[in-house]
Amino acid sequence: MNDDFYRIRRLPPYVFAEVNAMKARARAEGEDIIDLGMGNPDGAPAPHIIEKLCEVARDPGAHGYSASKGIKGLRKAQAGYYQRRFGVDLDPDTEVVVTLGSKEGLANLAQAITAPGDVVLAPNPSYPIHTFGFIITGAAIRSIPAAPGPDFFKRLEYAMVYSVPKPSVLVIGYPSNPTAYVADLAFYREVVAFAKEHKLWVISDLAYAEIYFGEEPTPSILQVPGGKDVAIEFTSMSKTYSMAGWRMGFAVGNRTLIDALARVKSYLDYGAFTPIQAAAVAALNGPQDVVAENRALYKARRDVMVESFGRAGWDVPSPEASMFAWAPIPPALAHLGSVEFAKRLLSEAKVAVAPGAGFGSEGEGFVRLALVENEQRIRQAARGVKKFLSANGVNVPGGQKE
Ligand SMILES: Cc1ncc(COP(=O)(O)O)c(C=O)c1O
Repeated sequence: MNDDFYRIRRLPPYVFAEVNAMKARARAEGEDIIDLGMGNPDGAPAPHIIEKLCEVARDPGAHGYSASKGIKGLRKAQAGYYQRRFGVDLDPDTEVVVTLGSKEGLANLAQAITAPGDVVLAPNPSYPIHTFGFIITGAAIRSIPAAPGPDFFKRLEYAMVYSVPKPSVLVIGYPSNPTAYVADLAFYREVVAFAKEHKLWVISDLAYAEIYFGEEPTPSILQVPGGKDVAIEFTSMSKTYSMAGWRMGFAVGNRTLIDALARVKSYLDYGAFTPIQAAAVAALNGPQDVVAENRALYKARRDVMVESFGRAGWDVPSPEASMFAWAPIPPALAHLGSVEFAKRLLSEAKVAVAPGAGFGSEGEGFVRLALVENEQRIRQAARGVKKFLSANGVNVPGGQKE
């Protein structure tokens, strides 16, 4: 019997698995571990969203299979969001698909549009589905920088010249996971022009659209005139409304890509549970103060983390957006590498983080800190970090006070 399965062969052991297993063991032994590892929001959706879920679930007619591409009211609500937030017009019938979380949409789009041997440009480091969605289909990944800086287009140009066959897809996602890099509209304009010139599809992951900390709201690539000619964009209810377990996201934009995704999905699923879709409509069309409150919550945690970790001897750059800080390993411990550093931090400081190497080779030297514990717990984590760093010979500024 052949057990060397083509797709499984393409999936290396999960880098986070070792640290996750250690965390589970420590907790089972009664340790209090502060978990800054996974980007799993700790909050709950607003009461009116939960109310709508319950109300519709009480309707005996709401329990059958739903529509694979999402109920019309929800596709309209998502089009409404794009109009009011980005000034982008979308046709709910041809330019919007509801997905079972954006991760499912990203994976199934990869399946829909790539063949074994295709070359896909994706950031390194990146959220794993940006690369593995395509690797599973047998495509080859060519890494591009995660930072939307001056190097980005140079490396893109280089990749186009030296890849055989020519890349067919470019994946981007800002605000980024894990780096928290942000992009502006001028960057997206260049991406769209580049994609048109080189006949590339663009997949934009906008999961952190509403978690930004500066004055300027996060832009969408679809704001660029002609953006829809080349780009599809994914958004998610998971972080914006703290609905991660509900599995609710969207793909919008280019009709050809939307059609391909909807076609694959029509073979694979019957759509999300109708009460969840109805509750998502309530979220998108209802009061948006919950979104602003969520943003303020992450911003306050970010400030506490940067300040308290800094005083503990670990300089964590302040992220401008997303729910993550992307922190270089303190120089004195950089030789450990991100996995070993994360393990030591867990056993000695009782703080779980995600090792950067899990997001790609360029993530080595960093760890990702998720803002998913409250301010008091973040300060507690900083105290653990301080003890850990001083015990390992790192100079803590200002002596012993934290
Ligand atoms: C960049 C990015 N895209 C997509 C997702 C997946 O979100 P969803 O819950 O909508 O599948 C995540 C989740 O952490 C993410 O960080």
